[in-house]
Amino acid sequence: MGPVPELAERATACADRLRQADTVLLASHIDADGLTSAAIATTALERAGIPVETIFEKQLDEAAVARIAETDHETALFTDFGSGQLDIITEYADAFTPVVVDHHQPADAETAYHCNPLLVGLDGASELSGAGAAYTLARALEPEGGDNRDLAALAVVGAVGDMQGGVDGLTGANEGIVEEGQAAGVLTEGTDLAMYGRQTRPLPKLLEYASDVRIPGITGNEAGAIGFLAELDADLRADGEWKRWVDLTDSERQTVASALLKRAVASGVSADQVDSLIGTTYTLVDEPVGSELRDVSEFSTLLNATARYDRADVGLAVCLGERDEPLDQARTLLRNHRKNLSEGIELVTSEGVTVEEHVQWFDAGTRIRETIVGIVAGMALGSSGVRRDRPIIAFAAVEDADDRDGDDDESELKVSARSPHSLVRQGLDLSAVMREAAQSVGGDGGGHDVAAGATIPAAERDAFVAAVDELVADQLG
Ligand code: C5P
Ligand code: C5P
Ligand code: ZN
Repeated sequence: MGPVPELAERATACADRLRQADTVLLASHIDADGLTSAAIATTALERAGIPVETIFEKQLDEAAVARIAETDHETALFTDFGSGQLDIITEYADAFTPVVVDHHQPADAETAYHCNPLLVGLDGASELSGAGAAYTLARALEPEGGDNRDLAALAVVGAVGDMQGGVDGLTGANEGIVEEGQAAGVLTEGTDLAMYGRQTRPLPKLLEYASDVRIPGITGNEAGAIGFLAELDADLRADGEWKRWVDLTDSERQTVASALLKRAVASGVSADQVDSLIGTTYTLVDEPVGSELRDVSEFSTLLNATARYDRADVGLAVCLGERDEPLDQARTLLRNHRKNLSEGIELVTSEGVTVEEHVQWFDAGTRIRETIVGIVAGMALGSSGVRRDRPIIAFAAVEDADDRDGDDDESELKVSARSPHSLVRQGLDLSAVMREAAQSVGGDGGGHDVAAGATIPAAERDAFVAAVDELVADQLG
């Protein structure tokens, strides 16, 4: 039946079609989920003896599809995008047969080989990622006697990279993939301190930078974090250096965690928030202790640090198991990515947002890279100076206005939108909002209910904001 029974039939149809191909062109998206999708699909195709060439695109727009049509591959596999662009893709039926394995909101068009959780009643924003969809394909592509369950590790990295897991971990179809990864011995699920950086950050940094739950006097406070740790009855240093969370014994972890919970309660942190200091974690057991590849959340950030900076080749190499040089390069890119994220957040929180009736927005111009403005918007939603009762819309200048299709377009803006989950529960669907508002000003967009994006002509920003405000009002009305 495969890991996602609802998708078994579609995955099998896609796999059967791919087996008929002499060669496959695989196109995927430039983020952690897109990279892991591509790595899973590439590996499965190679194991099935099907030659594959892999490319990455920032956005699957008309120009990108046209470039794919010009290659001499007669079969094109799209992972982590494609559903939202089926209207464009199907116009190229003469040039290639599309196989689409995605989890985004489909456009108003269909194709024979289409594997997407949204087509079978599963939630593409929380239950299955692009990498999860690629994993269902990989299981369907297994040759006689083959076993692709080891690829579940990458599928979990993709899902976590797309923020599909909450503090209680992954749910829905993703859970079935976690189970297969555990059965295959590549992954473990555990309960641990829910802070980013357990593998790589020295303890004071782990506590200082954790931002999901703010603990007064510790979060964002280096001296406070060090003071808190110094008072504990545990040996948290080795050779004069602070240990990392992974270096601690179980009893040391217990000491730190319970003191932290006590401190949070004493400083007035709400019971809900205190509970979410402990959560579900996923560990890739074949990776070395203390490596960012061992923790799925740190792994996904490392991947974003490559693909979102035009180095998808580096991230793909790491996903495919190469270490040494690609891993060194990825780590260098990660330092740069971290710096950009913290400068981006600083920009938004210091300059603030413009609050409309139903949405809030900021325009970063060229000060935040268009490929990470969505991540910054998502992080900003939980920060001071940004309201939590309405979606946030972020704009950034599109850099390569020297478009590859050669016509002399006016300048464009990249739009990223993120919503609090509470509004999605009330009926908000940002993917529809982005698509409709963008199309109304001559752009296009799409995505998920809780996170979506668009590209629009720069001159239309204010008209776009007005359209978004109205659509959000309608949806929540
Ligand atoms: O294109 P793709 O689906 O990979 O993009 C997903 C984006 O949506 C990620 O940047 C992720 O942070 C965001 N997202 C989110 N919350 C969710 C699901 C996705 O912020 N529940
Ligand atoms: O770029 P960002 O992370 O904000 O994208 C959020 C979601 O919106 C992603 O799933 C992305 O694929 C989608 N998106 C889209 N069309 C665009 C821009 C983003 O479908 N023009
Ligand atoms: Zn995705």
